[in-house]
Amino acid sequence: MTTKPLTGHECPGDPCTIVIFGASGDLTKRKLMPALYNLKALKLLPENFAVIGVAVTDSNDELYRAKITDDIKQFATRSVDQAEWDDFAKRSYYISGDFNSADTFTHLGNKIAEVQKTWNLTGNVLFYLAISPSFFGKVVEQLDTAGLTKENPGAWRRIIIEKPFGHDLQSARDLNKELTTHVDESQIYRIDHYLGKETVQNIMVFRFGNSVYEPIWNRRYIDYVQITVAEKLGVELRGGYYDHSGVTRDMVQNHILSVLSLIAMEPPASISGDSVRNEKVKVLEAIRPMEPEEVLMNTVRGQYGAGLIDGKNVPAYRTEKDVDPQSNTETFVAMKLMVENWRWADVPFFIRSGKRLAEHTTQIVIGFKRSPLLLFGKNADADVTPNRLVIHVQPDEGITMDIHAKKPGPGVSIANVPLDFSYAEFGETTAATGYETLLYDCMIGDMTLFHRYDSVDASWRIVNPILDVWQALHPRDFPNYAAGTWGPEAATKLIEKAGHQWHYYKLDR
Ligand code: BG6
Repeated sequence: MTTKPLTGHECPGDPCTIVIFGASGDLTKRKLMPALYNLKALKLLPENFAVIGVAVTDSNDELYRAKITDDIKQFATRSVDQAEWDDFAKRSYYISGDFNSADTFTHLGNKIAEVQKTWNLTGNVLFYLAISPSFFGKVVEQLDTAGLTKENPGAWRRIIIEKPFGHDLQSARDLNKELTTHVDESQIYRIDHYLGKETVQNIMVFRFGNSVYEPIWNRRYIDYVQITVAEKLGVELRGGYYDHSGVTRDMVQNHILSVLSLIAMEPPASISGDSVRNEKVKVLEAIRPMEPEEVLMNTVRGQYGAGLIDGKNVPAYRTEKDVDPQSNTETFVAMKLMVENWRWADVPFFIRSGKRLAEHTTQIVIGFKRSPLLLFGKNADADVTPNRLVIHVQPDEGITMDIHAKKPGPGVSIANVPLDFSYAEFGETTAATGYETLLYDCMIGDMTLFHRYDSVDASWRIVNPILDVWQALHPRDFPNYAAGTWGPEAATKLIEKAGHQWHYYKLDR
């Protein structure tokens, strides 16, 4: 895999028609349209392209163009060049229709043929399913029935599917079976927007592009790994979805386990999609699913009560819009996972994620073993923590290596000092939504950053036993953390009993 900062020096994607199901939804206006526009500005959209939005909302091409023009003013991540946008807008079309109705897909087929003719496009079509997961199977079936998924030389048909991929192991398997009845695995691009983040993609370059880290990237030198994905936001307007999901399904099953597998995987044989994905799945397969008593020992769940975020009162989860007032859904999770292979045996991987926490941050902390500082006297290391490497995924992207140095002055006492790399100071950074790389990769047929089904299955196999135990044992203490804190006390105890502490590395840049 290469990191693709998408500077505009790459070749444009293949000419294609991009069909977005869920064209009037939030994801489309906040992320997809701005990302497509960014690709166009970087000359990475093919010159020959068209966009067709499909949604239930009644509208037409003209009204849709006016809507996306309004939206882009609000959500663009770079200044919008009028001529560039006008070209984008005039290549955008809309059809409204019910996803259950065959007519919608006949209409779509005609529209695709029409825009292909108008803009001199090849037969390539990218279908983006930015819709409720309950429609994934239906839409793919309808596309197949309408003959729209059939590939021919020079005419690929690719489908990007948003998360969640299934609600549990069985439903993920059912969905996969349903999809693969209609299309081949090579046509399914299961998107994970965390893999579009620059710093996440940089994990591989950092690990395998530097000669100094790989030799120590194992149980002999590494004491623990922590992955924290903390949000200050609550569930916002997504209570209906979230209350049936919870943070473990929403964040752990996909984003966090995927990041963990990039941290823990063996060097891939090459950077092609399958080599990388083969190594990632091996990590997930090495995480043995927990027995029920291990779930009780190694996991903590929480739900936020009312509290203070940035000095403002925020309501308890159970009083959020579309949330059941008796809800037992977890908005916080912490767990200890073990990757049972030669590289990682006995090294705990602690992960935690939650909504309405004290900070908005995604950090990966690699804790190295304590060095024998005997040379410098008994108490020389009293004030220092062992070396840590911190990968800051967001909001301040970069890497910090915490080293030990002598404090200036007479005598020898030692302090932690950061060696700090910040992406913001690293040449030109491009304003991005995080979806550019993924859309571009789909257009060039690079599946590296998309989930293959075996890894989806493997991550459900890790998460499912935990959810089963939680389902059987209702939490009696919810809500058990106040908004604006770091989660329930039990999460601190979980890590302390393993002899560690949670680290949040506040940057002082
Ligand atoms: C989404 C989850 O996948 O990721 C949301 O459904 C969450 O609940 C979001 O807020 C976090 O993404 P990011 O990029 O803001 O960290």
